[in-house]
Amino acid sequence: MASFPSPVDEVALSRLRAALTTRRLGRTLVWLPSCQSTNDEVAARSAAGAEEGLLVAADRQTSGRGRRGRTWHSPPGENLYVSLLLRPALPARTIAPLTLLAGLALAEALARLEFSPRLKWPNDVLLKTAAGPKKVAGILMEMACAGESIRHVVLGVGINVNALHFPDDLATKATSLALVRGYELDRVDVLAAFLNAFEPVYDHFLAHGSADGLSEWHRHALLGQRCFVEREGGRVEGVASHVDETGALLLRADSGNLVPIHAGEVNWIAAVG
Ligand code: BTN
Repeated sequence: MASFPSPVDEVALSRLRAALTTRRLGRTLVWLPSCQSTNDEVAARSAAGAEEGLLVAADRQTSGRGRRGRTWHSPPGENLYVSLLLRPALPARTIAPLTLLAGLALAEALARLEFSPRLKWPNDVLLKTAAGPKKVAGILMEMACAGESIRHVVLGVGINVNALHFPDDLATKATSLALVRGYELDRVDVLAAFLNAFEPVYDHFLAHGSADGLSEWHRHALLGQRCFVEREGGRVEGVASHVDETGALLLRADSGNLVPIHAGEVNWIAAVG
């Protein structure tokens, strides 16, 4: 049985530090027994002057949130709820691909742990199950800016590591590493794998832009599916084609036109195997 870090489990935290190959991400690490949302904790510590790389993890969140105002199911002790403080010296308008690049790092980390993850635009990590692909992890990126200047980016990551049960409304859509693998995993191993994968991807993005990371992202992505997206101005339907350098999803509409989707939820029309 795996042993999990908690605020009193200094041994596990030391093991995490020892497993990190990062230079700065996660080198300052706070593990809370409970908080409302690790994203809020990081934003508050950022306002108090925390440095890039701060990682806040929690054993449970009382108001964990996902994209589009959703709640992120955050029961105690089973999963990973973590947020990273980033201070990219880039214009705010260039930052959107970072959500996808975090997804890429999650996919690389899970592949290293011998899973076969697939990425669903923009921020879902899926694993194959007998009932089709289900979500195992999600990313919530939040940013504070002054005009085009970024004060901070908070990159929140939720990974269903050892959850065996989900509320009824999630059960058909969500899975966990343990459900797929058949036994529990050590959260320290999963978190270290993510941080170790993300730092080089992030550094490359800072130095060279999004193109290389996004081309890697495509290798893990579920594309070519017929889908629709509800957005302001109506519903767009087509085949998910690819992502451009801004991180927008391009849908090939029946007219043949490529329609860029900058925000929204992709709904597959046919079952995806
Ligand atoms: C999504 O798929 O909609 C994004 C889910 C992001 C959940 C994580 S858990 C850690 C961090 N704190 C939060 O409140 N949300 C993110």
